[in-house]
Amino acid sequence: MLNIVVMVSGGGTNLQAVIDAVESGEITNTRIVGVISNNKNAYALERARKHGIKSRCISPRDFASREEFNENFISAVDEWEPDLIVLAGFLVVIPPAMTKRYQNRIINIHPSLIPAFCGTGFYGLKVHEAALERGVKVVGATVHFVDEGTDTGPIILQKAVEVEDGDTPEILQKRVMEQAEWQILPRAVDLIANGKVEVRGGKAFVSR
Ligand code: GAR
Repeated sequence: MLNIVVMVSGGGTNLQAVIDAVESGEITNTRIVGVISNNKNAYALERARKHGIKSRCISPRDFASREEFNENFISAVDEWEPDLIVLAGFLVVIPPAMTKRYQNRIINIHPSLIPAFCGTGFYGLKVHEAALERGVKVVGATVHFVDEGTDTGPIILQKAVEVEDGDTPEILQKRVMEQAEWQILPRAVDLIANGKVEVRGGKAFVSR
């Protein structure tokens, strides 16, 4: 059984996709042991509560220094002894000590086809604004392992989505979530839970 901790900052629709997939059996061998948010007002926390999943709020704002936050953050995660950490719209930088301790055991959903529109400053709606500004015709989402860089770790799954005439960043964001994110994040968790993802030479290989 793969014990996962999901980290969130906002609405939590990706968390919901994972919860639903666990409950429906689309994701197998997996238990969500806890949800961590840096934002006490995140609707994602309500989603966890409704499904009887434990949650915890921990924010850099509550600590005198980033070092102090990082130490407490890592201890909070360790207490749940996760096999896998799932970043589902989590907007806090993961401390290097955590990426080291949980090497190839942290995954992130990013709302673009990496390496396009990723890295520092590219998150949430900003990604879709940048894609429309550039005039690309295809966008999408990526699930990748988290390493010490920003959106640089091994890519597990990607799914493309077409840009349509008249798209606004909000419309495009919704289409990318519906057609890509809510599908590939649960699928990646299920693949990992069933031993089908392997990292070799800095790349992820998926067997199906
Ligand atoms: C999602 O679109 C996710 O891909 C993005 O934040 C949104 C969270 O929505 N993540 C990033 O931009 C990370 N760089 P949600 O709270 O409804 O799942």
